Amino acid sequence: MSIEPQNLQHIAIIMDGNGRWATKKGLPRSFGHKKGAETVREITRAAGEMGVKYLTLYAFSTENWQRDPDEVDALMDLLRQYLKSEMSELQKNGVKIVFIGEREMLPADIVEAMKKLEADTLNNDKMTICIALSYGSRQEIVYAARRIAALAKRGDISPEDVDMKMFSDMLYTKDIPNPDLLIRTSGEQRLSNYLLWQCAYSEFYFSNSLWPDFSRKELEEIIANYNQRERRYGKA
Ligand code: FPP
Repeated sequence: MSIEPQNLQHIAIIMDGNGRWATKKGLPRSFGHKKGAETVREITRAAGEMGVKYLTLYAFSTENWQRDPDEVDALMDLLRQYLKSEMSELQKNGVKIVFIGEREMLPADIVEAMKKLEADTLNNDKMTICIALSYGSRQEIVYAARRIAALAKRGDISPEDVDMKMFSDMLYTKDIPNPDLLIRTSGEQRLSNYLLWQCAYSEFYFSNSLWPDFSRKELEEIIANYNQRERRYGKA
């Protein structure tokens, strides 16, 4: 049976629990990330087939730079591989890739590969996958405020011109609608500096599965649950 998502354009996911998945099996944490990357493939494919238009994945936070350097290197290697290996499938399926986050922090070859993937998939319109890489939402909000302050300093805008639309347009997520549904795996129930502005009216779903165990079946169950919810956006 296939689930029809209703009024569900955009799903954002915090892919948590890779480390615990590996530790539980007596494996190094990097094995959890490797298995997690396979789950990324399964879930992006499933979401596309179900008609979800936007999928935003938290792949690496600004805080993740503080992890053990070996683990950071392993994650960067996985990303390198992903950026190389996915191209043909993304093109075949009409998927556009965009990245959000602080690129200055990332290794130069990864930034080049990101730019290439963005440029090569720019005109695809079946689905957009947004990968949050070296991303922190408070940093993003400060970045937007700085851009607005610079415009004001130049005299291009006055303080009264600043409104929610302008602020949204200054964020990394400028062209992406707000998430309808935010999923976090691994039983943790917090936002961890992810899409703070954008998730103001998102529905939240916390799954107890560790990300490497997350499956298409569970995604379908969560969407069925979402379809039952009444979204009131603060209205009666
Ligand atoms: C959180 O688990 C996960 C991450 C910090 C990295 C997510 C990365 C991937 C799923 C793989 C690569 C991504 C792409 C897009 C190919 P954790 O390490 O915090 O787990 P723990 O809380 O159990 O320690």
